[in-house]
Amino acid sequence: MEVVILPTQAAIASAAADCIEALVGTTPTAVLGLATGSSPLELYNELAERFRAGRVKFAQARAFMLDEYVGLSASHPERYRNVIEREVGARLDFAPGAIQGPNGLADDLPAACRAYEQAIKDAGGVDLQILGIGSDGHIAFNEPGSSLASRTRIKTLTPQTIADNARFFGGDPAQVPRHVLTQGLGTIMEAHHLVLMALGRGKAEAVHHMVEGGVSAMWPASILQFHPHATVLLDDAAAARLQLAPYYRHAYAGKPAWQGL
Ligand code: F6R
Repeated sequence: MEVVILPTQAAIASAAADCIEALVGTTPTAVLGLATGSSPLELYNELAERFRAGRVKFAQARAFMLDEYVGLSASHPERYRNVIEREVGARLDFAPGAIQGPNGLADDLPAACRAYEQAIKDAGGVDLQILGIGSDGHIAFNEPGSSLASRTRIKTLTPQTIADNARFFGGDPAQVPRHVLTQGLGTIMEAHHLVLMALGRGKAEAVHHMVEGGVSAMWPASILQFHPHATVLLDDAAAARLQLAPYYRHAYAGKPAWQGL
């Protein structure tokens, strides 16, 4: 795991965008994994900027979303499919149908989960997966206690995540759906490169367990310690509880420019 502590959200977004620009530059047919929530928003702004400037193209690329609420109406602005359409689809040149997500409105949710796993497999897997982290240590919506080998399935959100996400629903936790479809930890771990972004003091405890704690289903993001290419981009506040922060800074400061992330 490479931990990179950067001074601003803009610097974090720029570093993640560099990874994507390099990937689609060499592999225009790349498969991206997209996260929702607030952490990647600046990255999506940065990609839109670079697209306008002609630096990146996604016309041949595909993308898979991490997760989706169960039961939010097709037109609900917080349905993740709609969020990703607003933030990514409408601003970049992905072909119609090239961005897929789990279907939280399916009549048969387990079948929708199986179909989603198959779609990722048929696409050849995810090349680069963008991730955020919940304050309870979830990635995608793999809440504490999730199997470290899990695949796309239905999960129940924790009261902590419901409280955290109430800000997207007018501050009312009662409006946050209780159930979600989410890629499993086993699914996510098959992506070739994981790029996780975490911002703010509220993430510091989860980041501490993810990077320097024991690998445990209690802190699902800790599974990243087993991934051969995981890049963790943090601001100072999210890195506040890392024992080895001075070492991570030292290593990144001395990193040869050719090496990339
Ligand atoms: C959403 C997702 C979640 C979020 C996490 C952090 O697709 O995968 O794991 O990344 O809940 O959310 P923010 O970024 O809003 O703090």
